[in-house]
Amino acid sequence: MNELNQAQLLELVNTKQIAQGNPRVRALTQRIVTDLFKTIDEMDVTPDEFWKAVDWLTRLGQTGQFGLITAGLGFDRLIDIRLDEADEKAGRAAGTPRAIEGPLFVAGAPTTQVETRLDEGEPKGEIFVMEGQVLDTDGQPVANAMMDVWHANEVGGYSHFFPGMKPYELRRRIETDAQGNYRFRSFLPPGYGIPPNSPTAELFEALGRHGKRPAHIHFLVVAPGLRTLTTQVNIPGDTYIDDDFAFATRDGLIIELENDVAPAGYESLGITAPFTRSRFNFVMQKALNEDETSPAARMARVTANA
Ligand code: DHB
Ligand code: FE
Repeated sequence: MNELNQAQLLELVNTKQIAQGNPRVRALTQRIVTDLFKTIDEMDVTPDEFWKAVDWLTRLGQTGQFGLITAGLGFDRLIDIRLDEADEKAGRAAGTPRAIEGPLFVAGAPTTQVETRLDEGEPKGEIFVMEGQVLDTDGQPVANAMMDVWHANEVGGYSHFFPGMKPYELRRRIETDAQGNYRFRSFLPPGYGIPPNSPTAELFEALGRHGKRPAHIHFLVVAPGLRTLTTQVNIPGDTYIDDDFAFATRDGLIIELENDVAPAGYESLGITAPFTRSRFNFVMQKALNEDETSPAARMARVTANA
């Protein structure tokens, strides 16, 4: 019993049980452990390699960077592709394409009706307004949709994660009016890069990969009876638009920019000189059940009942 070969050990690990536990967790763990045993044996993983990986995972967790790795290794996009495939099969692929939430959402941003300014104080770049309507797939305006908007600052940092930024800087919630209208003022964000000298950076250096994302703006749109839409738009012209570290850019989500728009009608956003504008409508699917209308972002969904 105490002398085990690899196959006997694996069998033991996968079959030990004193209570029912969670059958789904059991099945997934068995599969992953089996695959890892196989990887270690076939790739002849040395003890130092194994413990180095454990150290790296420990530091990854301590720095809260697991969500950066999942994006960079394609898992976030994989989950979206699988949802798209399911929609396609069910004949309900419609509306604005989904795009990954990313690891940097923060709930509870300040809320305003219809329009807001995401940035504060002196403009940090080109003055930019994005505006449009939230619509359903029948083309009807969605009143009282709640839209979370968030993006990086002028050096690619997100508030609550990047040191020195104010709470909720460049994060706002906008509630649409009866016509589904929203608009916000900000500046055009630059691209983003994974934090240097971090466990995430170590992995991507070892993989010989860059950790850059093209300039983008995130959205989480929630409305009664409609399927929660998590998406991003990309700003055209970015070097990394077709080479995103997180594999998240999509056709249909690259906005068009209008330059030198006259300021008339934008005074309430403090605009008095020509600026850059983008018009974009968000189109939401009908929800098939309550769960699809959930306002919770990805981590809040899974930690609520933990
Ligand atoms: C990551 C960062 C982002 O801003 C984003 O939108 C997606 C992924 C990341 O660091 O993994
Ligand atoms: Fe992002």
